[in-house]
Amino acid sequence: MSTLQAVRYSRGKLEVLDQLRLPHEFHYDQVSTRQEAFDSIASMRTRGAPAIAIVASLGLAVELFNGPVAADSPQQVIAHIDEALDYLKQSRPTAVDLTNAINQLKARIRTSGETKASIIQGFIEEAENIFEKDLKTNLAIGDYGAEWLKAQVGATSDNTVSVLTHCNTGSLATSGHGTALGIIRTLQANGQLRHAFCTETRPYNQGSRLTAFELVYEGIPSTLITDSMAASLFRTKKAEKNIVAVIVGADRVGRNGDTANKIGTYQLAVLAKHHGIKFLVAAPTTSIDLETETGNGIKIEERKREELTQLTGAVIKADGRVDESTKVRVATADQRIEVWNPAFDVTPAEFIDAVVTEKGAVEKGPDGKFDFSKIMPERW
Ligand code: MRU
Repeated sequence: MSTLQAVRYSRGKLEVLDQLRLPHEFHYDQVSTRQEAFDSIASMRTRGAPAIAIVASLGLAVELFNGPVAADSPQQVIAHIDEALDYLKQSRPTAVDLTNAINQLKARIRTSGETKASIIQGFIEEAENIFEKDLKTNLAIGDYGAEWLKAQVGATSDNTVSVLTHCNTGSLATSGHGTALGIIRTLQANGQLRHAFCTETRPYNQGSRLTAFELVYEGIPSTLITDSMAASLFRTKKAEKNIVAVIVGADRVGRNGDTANKIGTYQLAVLAKHHGIKFLVAAPTTSIDLETETGNGIKIEERKREELTQLTGAVIKADGRVDESTKVRVATADQRIEVWNPAFDVTPAEFIDAVVTEKGAVEKGPDGKFDFSKIMPERW
Protein backbone atom coordinates (compact mmCIF):
# COMPACT_ATOMS: atom_id res chain seq x y z
CA MET A 1 0.00 0.00 0.00
CA SER A 2 1.19 3.50 -0.86
CA THR A 3 2.30 5.78 1.94
CA LEU A 4 1.32 8.88 -0.04
CA GLN A 5 -1.59 10.58 1.69
CA ALA A 6 -3.55 13.56 0.39
CA VAL A 7 -5.74 13.57 3.50
CA ARG A 8 -4.54 13.16 7.12
CA TYR A 9 -7.32 12.97 9.65
CA SER A 10 -7.87 12.35 13.33
CA ARG A 11 -11.08 13.37 15.09
CA GLY A 12 -11.10 17.19 15.34
CA LYS A 13 -8.13 17.66 13.00
CA LEU A 14 -7.84 17.56 9.20
CA GLU A 15 -4.72 18.19 7.13
CA VAL A 16 -4.88 18.27 3.35
CA LEU A 17 -1.95 18.13 0.95
CA ASP A 18 -1.75 21.24 -1.23
CA GLN A 19 -1.66 19.67 -4.71
CA LEU A 20 -0.92 22.97 -6.41
CA ARG A 21 2.57 22.86 -4.87
CA LEU A 22 3.36 19.32 -6.01
CA PRO A 23 5.68 17.87 -7.12
CA HIS A 24 8.12 20.48 -5.82
CA GLU A 25 6.81 21.06 -2.32
CA PHE A 26 5.08 18.83 0.22
CA HIS A 27 2.84 21.13 2.23
CA TYR A 28 -0.25 20.21 4.27
CA ASP A 29 -2.97 22.83 4.94
CA GLN A 30 -5.05 22.70 8.12
CA VAL A 31 -8.71 22.49 7.14
CA SER A 32 -10.94 23.25 10.12
CA THR A 33 -14.06 24.88 8.69
CA ARG A 34 -16.54 24.51 5.84
CA GLN A 35 -15.04 27.66 4.31
CA GLU A 36 -11.51 26.22 4.33
CA ALA A 37 -12.81 22.96 2.84
CA PHE A 38 -14.70 24.88 0.14
CA ASP A 39 -11.63 26.99 -0.72
CA SER A 40 -9.32 23.96 -0.84
CA ILE A 41 -11.65 22.26 -3.35
CA ALA A 42 -12.55 25.31 -5.46
CA SER A 43 -8.88 26.32 -5.80
CA MET A 44 -7.93 22.70 -6.68
CA ARG A 45 -5.50 22.31 -3.80
CA THR A 46 -7.77 19.28 -3.29
CA ARG A 47 -9.03 17.60 -6.46
CA GLY A 48 -10.21 14.22 -7.75
CA ALA A 49 -13.81 13.11 -7.26
CA PRO A 50 -13.43 10.95 -4.11
CA ALA A 51 -11.00 13.38 -2.41
CA ILE A 52 -13.40 16.27 -3.00
CA ALA A 53 -16.20 14.35 -1.22
CA ILE A 54 -13.88 13.33 1.62
CA VAL A 55 -12.45 16.80 2.30
CA ALA A 56 -15.91 18.44 2.20
CA SER A 57 -17.32 15.83 4.62
CA LEU A 58 -14.38 15.79 7.03
CA GLY A 59 -13.89 19.58 6.88
CA LEU A 60 -17.43 20.07 8.13
CA ALA A 61 -16.99 17.25 10.66
CA VAL A 62 -14.00 19.09 12.16
CA GLU A 63 -15.94 22.37 12.28
CA LEU A 64 -18.83 20.67 14.08
CA PHE A 65 -16.51 18.79 16.46
CA ASN A 66 -14.69 21.94 17.53
CA GLY A 67 -17.93 23.99 17.71
CA PRO A 68 -19.67 26.09 18.79
CA VAL A 69 -22.73 25.21 16.71
CA ALA A 70 -25.16 28.11 16.62
CA ALA A 71 -28.31 25.98 16.87
CA ASP A 72 -30.12 24.19 19.68
CA SER A 73 -33.20 22.21 18.78
CA PRO A 74 -32.70 19.05 16.65
CA GLN A 75 -34.51 20.76 13.75
CA GLN A 76 -32.18 23.76 13.97
CA VAL A 77 -29.07 21.57 14.10
CA ILE A 78 -30.21 19.62 11.05
CA ALA A 79 -30.98 22.88 9.20
CA HIS A 80 -27.55 24.25 10.19
CA ILE A 81 -25.77 21.16 8.78
CA ASP A 82 -27.96 21.05 5.65
CA GLU A 83 -27.07 24.66 4.89
CA ALA A 84 -23.34 23.94 5.24
CA LEU A 85 -23.63 20.88 2.98
CA ASP A 86 -25.59 22.79 0.33
CA TYR A 87 -22.87 25.41 0.35
CA LEU A 88 -20.09 22.81 -0.02
CA LYS A 89 -21.95 21.21 -2.93
CA GLN A 90 -21.29 24.34 -4.99
CA SER A 91 -17.48 24.01 -4.70
CA ARG A 92 -17.20 22.00 -7.94
CA PRO A 93 -20.13 20.87 -10.09
CA THR A 94 -19.17 17.83 -12.17
CA ALA A 95 -18.01 15.12 -9.74
CA VAL A 96 -21.04 13.33 -8.29
CA ASP A 97 -19.24 11.73 -5.32
CA LEU A 98 -19.75 14.95 -3.37
CA THR A 99 -23.50 14.92 -4.02
CA ASN A 100 -23.71 11.26 -3.02
CA ALA A 101 -21.73 11.93 0.18
CA ILE A 102 -24.00 14.87 1.00
CA ASN A 103 -27.13 12.74 0.52
CA GLN A 104 -25.62 10.04 2.74
CA LEU A 105 -24.74 12.58 5.46
CA LYS A 106 -28.17 14.22 5.31
CA ALA A 107 -29.85 10.83 5.69
CA ARG A 108 -27.60 9.90 8.62
CA ILE A 109 -28.27 13.06 10.68
CA ARG A 110 -31.99 12.41 10.31
CA THR A 111 -31.62 9.04 12.03
CA SER A 112 -29.10 10.03 14.71
CA GLY A 113 -31.35 10.68 17.67
CA GLU A 114 -33.06 13.73 19.08
CA THR A 115 -30.25 15.71 20.70
CA LYS A 116 -27.77 18.20 19.33
CA ALA A 117 -24.87 16.03 20.51
CA SER A 118 -26.21 12.84 18.92
CA ILE A 119 -26.88 14.53 15.57
CA ILE A 120 -23.36 15.99 15.47
CA GLN A 121 -21.91 12.65 16.57
CA GLY A 122 -23.87 10.91 13.78
CA PHE A 123 -22.52 13.36 11.20
CA ILE A 124 -18.91 12.92 12.33
CA GLU A 125 -19.17 9.12 12.31
CA GLU A 126 -20.68 9.11 8.82
CA ALA A 127 -17.98 11.46 7.46
CA GLU A 128 -15.30 9.19 8.95
CA ASN A 129 -17.06 6.18 7.44
CA ILE A 130 -16.94 7.81 3.96
CA PHE A 131 -13.20 8.37 4.38
CA GLU A 132 -12.40 4.87 5.66
CA LYS A 133 -14.62 3.08 3.17
CA ASP A 134 -12.95 4.80 0.22
CA LEU A 135 -9.65 3.02 0.80
CA LYS A 136 -11.28 -0.43 0.91
CA THR A 137 -13.23 0.50 -2.21
CA ASN A 138 -10.06 1.40 -4.09
CA LEU A 139 -8.27 -1.79 -3.10
CA ALA A 140 -11.25 -3.79 -4.40
CA ILE A 141 -11.27 -1.81 -7.67
CA GLY A 142 -7.57 -2.60 -8.03
CA ASP A 143 -8.20 -6.33 -7.63
CA TYR A 144 -11.21 -6.45 -9.96
CA GLY A 145 -9.41 -4.37 -12.58
CA ALA A 146 -6.30 -6.54 -12.56
CA GLU A 147 -8.46 -9.69 -12.72
CA TRP A 148 -10.52 -8.30 -15.63
CA LEU A 149 -7.40 -7.46 -17.60
CA LYS A 150 -5.95 -10.89 -17.01
CA ALA A 151 -9.13 -12.60 -18.21
CA GLN A 152 -9.64 -10.37 -21.24
CA VAL A 153 -6.14 -10.01 -22.42
CA GLY A 154 -4.96 -13.53 -21.78
CA ALA A 155 -1.43 -14.70 -21.38
CA THR A 156 1.51 -13.09 -23.16
CA SER A 157 5.04 -14.46 -23.31
CA ASP A 158 5.88 -12.97 -19.90
CA ASN A 159 2.29 -12.38 -18.71
CA THR A 160 2.80 -8.64 -18.43
CA VAL A 161 0.87 -5.78 -19.98
CA SER A 162 1.32 -2.06 -20.50
CA VAL A 163 -1.41 0.52 -20.01
CA LEU A 164 -2.00 4.23 -20.48
CA THR A 165 -3.73 6.44 -17.91
CA HIS A 166 -4.96 10.03 -18.00
CA CYS A 167 -5.22 12.73 -15.33
CA ASN A 168 -4.59 11.72 -11.71
CA THR A 169 -6.67 9.05 -10.02
CA GLY A 170 -4.19 7.83 -7.43
CA SER A 171 -3.60 8.29 -3.70
CA LEU A 172 -3.72 12.03 -4.28
CA ALA A 173 -7.28 11.89 -5.64
CA THR A 174 -8.66 9.49 -3.03
CA SER A 175 -8.07 8.32 0.55
CA GLY A 176 -5.31 6.04 -0.78
CA HIS A 177 -4.32 3.56 -3.53
CA GLY A 178 -6.55 5.21 -6.15
CA THR A 179 -8.98 4.00 -8.80
CA ALA A 180 -7.43 3.81 -12.30
CA LEU A 181 -3.98 4.35 -10.82
CA GLY A 182 -5.02 1.88 -8.12
CA ILE A 183 -5.41 -0.79 -10.83
CA ILE A 184 -1.92 0.09 -12.06
CA ARG A 185 -0.58 -0.22 -8.50
CA THR A 186 -2.25 -3.61 -8.14
CA LEU A 187 -0.93 -4.79 -11.54
CA GLN A 188 2.55 -3.78 -10.39
CA ALA A 189 2.16 -5.54 -7.03
CA ASN A 190 0.97 -8.71 -8.85
CA GLY A 191 3.91 -8.68 -11.28
CA GLN A 192 1.44 -8.12 -14.16
CA LEU A 193 2.66 -4.66 -15.20
CA ARG A 194 5.26 -4.17 -17.91
CA HIS A 195 4.95 -0.40 -18.24
CA ALA A 196 2.61 2.48 -17.36
CA PHE A 197 2.27 5.49 -19.66
CA CYS A 198 0.72 8.67 -18.35
CA THR A 199 -0.45 11.71 -20.24
CA GLU A 200 0.53 15.23 -19.26
CA THR A 201 -3.20 16.11 -19.06
CA ARG A 202 -3.35 19.66 -20.29
CA PRO A 203 -4.24 22.24 -19.29
CA TYR A 204 -3.93 21.60 -15.56
CA ASN A 205 -1.20 18.98 -15.87
CA GLN A 206 -2.55 16.54 -13.29
CA GLY A 207 -0.70 13.83 -15.24
CA SER A 208 2.75 15.42 -15.30
CA ARG A 209 2.55 17.13 -11.90
CA LEU A 210 0.74 14.41 -9.92
CA THR A 211 0.55 11.03 -11.69
CA ALA A 212 4.17 11.14 -12.86
CA PHE A 213 5.12 12.02 -9.28
CA GLU A 214 3.09 9.10 -7.86
CA LEU A 215 4.53 6.65 -10.39
CA VAL A 216 8.10 7.71 -9.64
CA TYR A 217 7.36 7.70 -5.89
CA GLU A 218 6.14 4.09 -6.17
CA GLY A 219 9.00 2.96 -8.38
CA ILE A 220 6.57 1.88 -11.12
CA PRO A 221 8.19 1.61 -14.58
CA SER A 222 6.59 4.52 -16.38
CA THR A 223 6.83 7.11 -19.14
CA LEU A 224 5.25 10.54 -19.46
CA ILE A 225 3.82 11.66 -22.82
CA THR A 226 1.95 14.78 -23.90
CA ASP A 227 -1.74 14.33 -24.65
CA SER A 228 -1.08 14.74 -28.36
CA MET A 229 1.31 11.76 -28.44
CA ALA A 230 -1.25 9.07 -27.60
CA ALA A 231 -2.10 8.17 -31.21
CA SER A 232 1.57 7.78 -32.11
CA LEU A 233 2.20 5.78 -28.94
CA PHE A 234 -0.51 3.30 -29.92
CA ARG A 235 0.63 3.11 -33.55
CA THR A 236 4.32 2.63 -32.85
CA LYS A 237 4.56 0.92 -29.46
CA LYS A 238 1.40 -1.14 -29.00
CA ALA A 239 2.99 -4.39 -30.10
CA GLU A 240 6.47 -3.79 -28.66
CA LYS A 241 5.14 -2.82 -25.20
CA ASN A 242 1.97 -4.92 -25.28
CA ILE A 243 -0.25 -1.91 -24.61
CA VAL A 244 -3.61 -3.52 -23.90
CA ALA A 245 -5.70 -0.90 -22.14
CA VAL A 246 -6.39 2.71 -21.40
CA ILE A 247 -7.54 3.02 -17.79
CA VAL A 248 -9.17 6.22 -16.56
CA GLY A 249 -11.22 7.39 -13.59
CA ALA A 250 -14.61 9.10 -13.59
CA ASP A 251 -16.24 12.16 -12.15
CA ARG A 252 -19.73 11.01 -13.01
CA VAL A 253 -21.00 7.88 -14.75
CA GLY A 254 -24.53 8.22 -16.12
CA ARG A 255 -27.12 5.45 -15.82
CA ASN A 256 -26.30 4.30 -19.37
CA GLY A 257 -22.52 4.26 -18.77
CA ASP A 258 -21.67 7.56 -20.48
CA THR A 259 -18.74 8.85 -18.42
CA ALA A 260 -17.62 12.37 -17.57
CA ASN A 261 -13.92 12.51 -16.79
CA LYS A 262 -10.97 14.84 -17.29
CA ILE A 263 -10.91 16.67 -20.60
CA GLY A 264 -9.06 14.53 -23.15
CA THR A 265 -10.57 11.24 -21.97
CA TYR A 266 -12.99 11.02 -24.91
CA GLN A 267 -10.27 11.35 -27.54
CA LEU A 268 -8.30 8.56 -25.85
CA ALA A 269 -11.39 6.32 -25.98
CA VAL A 270 -11.81 6.95 -29.71
CA LEU A 271 -8.12 6.25 -30.31
CA ALA A 272 -8.22 3.09 -28.20
CA LYS A 273 -11.13 1.71 -30.21
CA HIS A 274 -9.33 2.45 -33.47
CA HIS A 275 -6.22 0.63 -32.27
CA GLY A 276 -7.98 -2.38 -30.71
CA ILE A 277 -7.03 -1.37 -27.19
CA LYS A 278 -9.47 -1.91 -24.30
CA PHE A 279 -10.93 1.15 -22.59
CA LEU A 280 -11.61 0.78 -18.87
CA VAL A 281 -13.31 3.21 -16.51
CA ALA A 282 -12.36 2.62 -12.87
CA ALA A 283 -14.83 4.21 -10.49
CA PRO A 284 -16.43 3.59 -7.12
CA THR A 285 -20.21 3.13 -7.21
CA THR A 286 -20.40 6.56 -5.55
CA SER A 287 -19.36 8.00 -8.94
CA ILE A 288 -22.37 6.40 -10.65
CA ASP A 289 -25.26 8.84 -10.93
CA LEU A 290 -28.55 7.02 -11.32
CA GLU A 291 -30.41 10.33 -11.57
CA THR A 292 -28.66 11.11 -14.85
CA GLU A 293 -29.82 9.01 -17.79
CA THR A 294 -27.06 9.88 -20.27
CA GLY A 295 -23.97 12.04 -20.59
CA ASN A 296 -26.08 14.83 -22.08
CA GLY A 297 -27.41 15.54 -18.58
CA ILE A 298 -23.97 16.03 -17.01
CA LYS A 299 -22.95 19.60 -16.20
CA ILE A 300 -19.41 20.23 -17.37
CA GLU A 301 -17.38 22.72 -15.34
CA GLU A 302 -15.68 25.46 -17.37
CA ARG A 303 -12.57 26.96 -15.81
CA LYS A 304 -10.66 30.19 -16.12
CA ARG A 305 -8.83 31.28 -19.26
CA GLU A 306 -5.46 31.65 -17.53
CA GLU A 307 -5.10 27.87 -17.30
CA LEU A 308 -4.53 27.90 -21.07
CA THR A 309 -2.71 31.16 -21.53
CA GLN A 310 -0.30 31.20 -18.58
CA LEU A 311 1.98 28.93 -16.57
CA THR A 312 3.88 29.39 -13.33
CA GLY A 313 7.64 29.17 -13.89
CA ALA A 314 10.54 29.06 -11.47
CA VAL A 315 14.29 28.51 -11.48
CA ILE A 316 15.31 24.86 -10.97
CA LYS A 317 18.19 24.49 -8.51
CA ALA A 318 21.14 22.12 -8.92
CA ASP A 319 19.40 19.49 -6.72
CA GLY A 320 16.42 19.48 -9.11
CA ARG A 321 14.15 21.34 -6.69
CA VAL A 322 12.37 24.57 -7.51
CA ASP A 323 13.57 27.86 -6.07
CA GLU A 324 10.24 29.13 -4.68
CA SER A 325 11.53 32.69 -4.41
CA THR A 326 11.83 32.90 -8.21
CA LYS A 327 8.21 31.88 -9.00
CA VAL A 328 6.73 33.93 -11.81
CA ARG A 329 3.66 33.74 -14.12
CA VAL A 330 4.70 33.12 -17.72
CA ALA A 331 2.51 33.85 -20.77
CA THR A 332 2.11 30.88 -23.13
CA ALA A 333 -0.29 32.57 -25.57
CA ASP A 334 -1.40 35.97 -26.71
CA GLN A 335 -3.34 37.13 -23.63
CA ARG A 336 -6.13 38.57 -25.84
CA ILE A 337 -7.09 35.26 -27.46
CA GLU A 338 -10.57 33.91 -26.71
CA VAL A 339 -10.38 30.67 -24.69
CA TRP A 340 -12.68 27.66 -24.15
CA ASN A 341 -11.63 25.62 -21.12
CA PRO A 342 -14.00 22.75 -20.20
CA ALA A 343 -12.48 20.76 -17.33
CA PHE A 344 -14.17 17.49 -18.33
CA ASP A 345 -15.62 15.70 -21.36
CA VAL A 346 -18.10 12.88 -21.78
CA THR A 347 -17.06 9.55 -23.26
CA PRO A 348 -20.08 7.78 -24.78
CA ALA A 349 -20.73 4.31 -23.36
CA GLU A 350 -20.17 2.72 -26.77
CA PHE A 351 -16.43 3.39 -26.40
CA ILE A 352 -16.17 1.86 -22.91
CA ASP A 353 -15.43 -1.86 -22.54
CA ALA A 354 -16.00 -2.09 -18.78
CA VAL A 355 -16.67 0.02 -15.70
CA VAL A 356 -14.67 -1.44 -12.82
CA THR A 357 -16.24 -0.75 -9.42
CA GLU A 358 -15.63 -2.06 -5.90
CA LYS A 359 -18.44 -4.53 -6.56
CA GLY A 360 -16.96 -5.95 -9.72
CA ALA A 361 -16.42 -5.10 -13.39
CA VAL A 362 -19.58 -4.31 -15.33
CA GLU A 363 -19.58 -4.95 -19.08
CA LYS A 364 -22.20 -4.01 -21.63
CA GLY A 365 -24.97 -6.51 -22.22
CA PRO A 366 -25.93 -7.99 -25.61
CA ASP A 367 -28.02 -4.82 -26.21
CA GLY A 368 -24.80 -2.78 -26.00
CA LYS A 369 -25.94 -1.10 -22.78
CA PHE A 370 -24.52 -0.99 -19.27
CA ASP A 371 -26.79 -2.26 -16.53
CA PHE A 372 -25.64 -1.26 -13.05
CA SER A 373 -28.73 -2.63 -11.30
CA LYS A 374 -26.98 -5.90 -10.41
CA ILE A 375 -24.16 -4.22 -8.49
CA MET A 376 -26.26 -1.56 -6.77
CA PRO A 377 -29.78 -2.95 -6.38
CA GLU A 378 -30.29 -0.87 -3.22
CA ARG A 379 -29.94 2.38 -5.16
CA TRP A 380 -31.58 1.28 -8.40
O1 MRU B 1 -10.16 18.40 -12.19
P1 MRU B 1 -9.75 17.21 -11.37
O2 MRU B 1 -8.28 17.09 -11.18
O3 MRU B 1 -10.52 17.14 -10.07
O4 MRU B 1 -10.22 15.97 -12.25
C1 MRU B 1 -9.98 14.68 -11.76
C2 MRU B 1 -10.46 13.60 -12.69
O5 MRU B 1 -10.98 13.85 -13.75
C3 MRU B 1 -10.33 12.20 -12.19
O6 MRU B 1 -10.12 11.32 -13.26
C4 MRU B 1 -11.60 11.79 -11.43
O7 MRU B 1 -12.00 12.76 -10.53
C5 MRU B 1 -11.42 10.50 -10.72
S1 MRU B 1 -10.27 10.61 -9.38
C6 MRU B 1 -10.24 9.06 -8.67
